[in-house]
Amino acid sequence: MLVSGNVILQKAHKENYGVGAFNFVNYEMLSTIFEAADEKKSPIIVQASEGAIKYLGIDMAVGMVKILSQRYPHIPVALHLDHGTSYESCVKAIRAGFTSVMIDASHHPFEENLCETKRVVEVAHCAGVSVEAELGRLMGIEDNISVDEKDACLVNPKEAEEFVKESKVDFLAPAIGTSHGAFKFKGEPKLDFERLIEVKRLTNIPLVLHGASAIPSEVREAFLQSGGDLKGSKGVPFEFLQEAIKGGINKINTDTDLRIAFMSEVRRVANEDKTQFDLRKFFAPAKDFMRKVIAERMEVLGSAGKI
Ligand code: G3H
Ligand code: 13P
Ligand code: ZN
Repeated sequence: MLVSGNVILQKAHKENYGVGAFNFVNYEMLSTIFEAADEKKSPIIVQASEGAIKYLGIDMAVGMVKILSQRYPHIPVALHLDHGTSYESCVKAIRAGFTSVMIDASHHPFEENLCETKRVVEVAHCAGVSVEAELGRLMGIEDNISVDEKDACLVNPKEAEEFVKESKVDFLAPAIGTSHGAFKFKGEPKLDFERLIEVKRLTNIPLVLHGASAIPSEVREAFLQSGGDLKGSKGVPFEFLQEAIKGGINKINTDTDLRIAFMSEVRRVANEDKTQFDLRKFFAPAKDFMRKVIAERMEVLGSAGKI
């Protein structure tokens, strides 16, 4: 059933587990996320970036989610706009049928971010749509980073408290040391869990971890085996994801792992049979591997069995 992000994340917040927010750019990714949710009896958030919406068409993005949520009526699913860059973009998504939106004005000064978020919250809440905002900059933290440097880029818990109180936003993404993509950490993985715990204590709302792909060893290996190159890649280890959930994270944004899993199977098939050109021969094994990765993630995050 298509529900607002709040329905899914308030439960996760109260019961202290994480829900995967999985990105999709086509039917193959989207249907695989639903299939894994069905297998694991897990709620899901499916999210489309502005780039994904441009690629698919907003009507198609919403249409596919509606059809799949009718096919799997027992799965609570929220359709979320990932990294909405403006008020206009959020309103377009709400009008089209998204049930949750992110306004990402985190690169603006605090007051501007707050002002833009307030505007989105006002219109979204009238439509029963939940809103996510972000504070701080998404970037990896090095071992030798100074306290001042950390304070300059990561979330400030006191600001988070004020931001949530003033904006009435539903979920907050606090920057605690993750970054997007496959190259998250130069040295050992490191996240600022103390800062996270303080943000949770002061805000007491569902929190979001962006850049949460783990690049598990079997996914990296499959990509390398297929002839891909991921030199220097590093994800967020499963134990860190679980520690982050203990610290108050409830929405776990995951895109890179799905892309790597899918593409390693596409490349493997392409290499193994150079005469092959039936799309289904590439996409069926790619979906299988991606489904395995998502199903395992649902166990790690604790959303399995939560329907
Ligand atoms: O946070 C970014 C997501 O991984 C979506 O990326 O803009 O390439 O669709 P995209
Ligand atoms: P990854 O690149 O780690 O998958 O993060 C995705 C994300 O944060 C989408 O908003
Ligand atoms: Zn993100």
